[in-house]
Amino acid sequence: MSGRKPLIAGNWKMHKTIKETLDLINGIKAGLQGNEAADVLVAPPFTALSAAAGAIQGSTILLAGQNLHQEPSGAYTGEVSGQMIHDTGATHVIIGHSERRQYFGETDDLVNLKVKAALAAGLIPIFCLGETLGEREAGGTFEVLGRQLEGGLKGFSAEEAAKIIVAYEPVWAIGTGKTATNDQAQEVHYFLRGLLGKIFEKRLASETRILYGGSVKPDNAADLLACPDVDGALVGGASLKVDSFIGIIHFDR
Ligand code: 13P
Repeated sequence: MSGRKPLIAGNWKMHKTIKETLDLINGIKAGLQGNEAADVLVAPPFTALSAAAGAIQGSTILLAGQNLHQEPSGAYTGEVSGQMIHDTGATHVIIGHSERRQYFGETDDLVNLKVKAALAAGLIPIFCLGETLGEREAGGTFEVLGRQLEGGLKGFSAEEAAKIIVAYEPVWAIGTGKTATNDQAQEVHYFLRGLLGKIFEKRLASETRILYGGSVKPDNAADLLACPDVDGALVGGASLKVDSFIGIIHFDR
């Protein structure tokens, strides 16, 4: 049994107005009663972060942005800095999600700069990585993940790396209803932890939380979270409704 407390995180992506955010957070707060098994985090869109920060007060819910710009400020129309996210009351930020990599051309080098920017702004990065179906079928899973992990965390001290949460999200499992099997998830998480141990140190690797994401639902969460190296879930679709998100948070019941 590891000492890592599970983290159940909801990535709301481009969903929810301010009012919908408040309704969902209030529903989650009510449903959380008696929850001790897991830490809980939500990542609403930027526009709702401030309101969400007010709504989570008095609860244990944590708050994250979904992206940030790598520069602290400047002439970057439409972008949001780490400091701005921190300023809303958020404590975490998702970085390198496969949708950012796929649709917005984010490379390992850019992800690396963004992780640096998050740490500089006092935010805890939730650093995402994952292989596509083509890469898996071609037998390239571990090579791709190794490159993403080493590239994303290049140049960090062990002290900095110790703050980072890793999220393994196989691209083929995101929004498809197709979940990695327990064996597939465990195999990758074990590999990532081993690599963290090689890049940094064993103790750091044994303390780093590695979340799984990709079609996590109330009915598969318990099995996935029973894997020894799976330390939580990064949930998309099922985090948008109170019942399904609470069902995942209460995976142990
Ligand atoms: P789904 O849970 O909808 O598959 O999305 C996973 C995800 O991308 C979370 O970041």
